Parts: sequence; C-alpha cells; structure tokens
Amino acid sequence: MIEIKNLNKTFGDYKALYNLNITVKPGEIFGFLGPNGAGKTTTVKIISGILMPTSGTVIIGGYDILADTINAKRTLAYIPDEPFVYPKLTGYEFLRFIGDIYKVPFSYQKSEIPALMKIFDLSKFSNELLEAYSHGMKQKLLIAGVLLRNPKVLLFDEPTIGLDPKSIKKFKDILSDLAKKGTTIFMCTHILEMAQNLCSKIAIINFGRLIAEGTMGYFKKIAAMDAGGDNSLENIFLKLTSKK
Ligand SMILES: Nc1ncnc2c1ncn2[C@@H]1O[C@H](COP(=O)(O)OP(=O)(O)OP(=O)(O)O)[C@@H](O)[C@H]1O
Ligand SMILES: [Mg+2]
Repeated sequence: MIEIKNLNKTFGDYKALYNLNITVKPGEIFGFLGPNGAGKTTTVKIISGILMPTSGTVIIGGYDILADTINAKRTLAYIPDEPFVYPKLTGYEFLRFIGDIYKVPFSYQKSEIPALMKIFDLSKFSNELLEAYSHGMKQKLLIAGVLLRNPKVLLFDEPTIGLDPKSIKKFKDILSDLAKKGTTIFMCTHILEMAQNLCSKIAIINFGRLIAEGTMGYFKKIAAMDAGGDNSLENIFLKLTSKK
C-alpha cells in the first residue's frame, strides 16, 4: 500500500535521507521510530507529497506521489505533529469543510460529524472557534476529520502528543479497528510502548538510514541474541541507535 523506493533527501549540503526502502502492506500499522533529527518527519512529508524528494519514488495505493499526485493524495491523509486548523472556523464548520473538499456525502456528514465529536469529547465545543481550542483538542479534531474521510492510508507524525490518557486509549482502539478493516497506517512515534503494543511492524531510522525493520517478534529475537536478556523495545532501540 505504501512503497518507498531508493528515497534520498538532501537539504543544501545536508543529507537527511539515504536510500530509504520501505514497504507497508494493507492493514499494517507501521511504527517509524528514531532519535530526534533522524529523518522521520522528512520521510512522512515526502510520502504525503508536501516535500519533494531529491531522488527516489513513493507509491501510495498504486499511485506515484509525484506522477499521479491527486490520486495519491486522495488515497491518504496526513496528520502533522503540529496540528493546523483554520482559527476562524468552529469545530463543526471545520469538519464540514473537510467533508466537502473530500466529497463526503452531506447526509453522511450530518450524522457522522456529531458522532465523531462525541467520541473525542468535543461536542460541547462544536460551535466554538478553533482559535480557542487547546493543542490536544485541535489534534483530536484533525483525527476526527481523517475518520470522516476514511482514507485507505493514514500518515501520523507523533499523533498522541498533547492527547490525554483517555483520548490516547480511544485513538489506539480506533487505529486497531481501522487496521483490521484494511486501513494502512504509517506512524512516526517516540512512544515505544505504543509501537510495541499497537504496531504490526516497526522500523528504526538513525541519521537518515534505516537500521532495523521487522515485527516485534523479530526485535525480541535480536535482543535475545545479546547477553543481558532485556528484550524491551526501549532497550533494543537504545542499543541500535547508540552507534554513530
Ligand atoms: N527544511 C529543512 N531545511 C534544512 N534541514 C532540514 C529541514 N527539514 C529537516 N531538516 C534536517 O533534516 C534532519 C531530519 O529532520 P526530521 O525533522 O525529519 O527529523 P525527525 O526524525 O522527525 O526528528 P524529531 O524526532 O525531532 O521530530 C534534521 O537534521 C533536520 O535538521
Ligand atoms: Mg519529527
């Protein structure tokens, strides 16, 4: 569903991504981990068509993000790490706007928008301007917008920053359900517990290079080969990313 082939990105003299190759299958929740500055946001911005690669290709649901941008973008939704919303719209208006630009039928919007706002405890604020929403409320509204669209591929950059524990639990449950129904999810995260328990596949990037990729079972196997016996993802992550 997501195919990244020989992806390179250079900013001036700085090489941010080195020949990245990643395949994410339909229904997979793919956790993309790595230290600060490793290249996660750069990768997800290229996948979503916001940033041009220096070389390489990204195919989303069969559509090349560079050659067939509109179809690729229709297939995906991208939730950035800093939630952007239009401050002078209300929560309800914002979801209506998302629904309309993505051609969600009005009858569906009418029933689904209040239901989504309820799921994320936003009903009380549906007529408030978004400039008054907190960071976590904006993040939840963006997630609600994505659920309204129901795209085949979801790209998240640190999705749970700012969410309260109840919302994080809801978010995780929703992702699990969506993946079971075939939605493909690509998620950058620093929260190793979430990667360990939610993601069906994990990749670690360090200094722009993919250094490990596999299921949690695979990572545990690597850890088991090491003396010491601590096979938590935290320990594996710290070991793998300690090398310069
Ligand atoms: N527009 C830009 N111009 C110059 N350098 C950039 C630009 N965007 C990113 N970089 C550099 O590319 C590298 C990768 O950045 P990126 O934001 O992808 O890291 P990240 O893995 O998302 O980190 P974090 O965990 O802190 O979010 C960093 O060294 C960063 O300084
Ligand atoms: Mg980032």
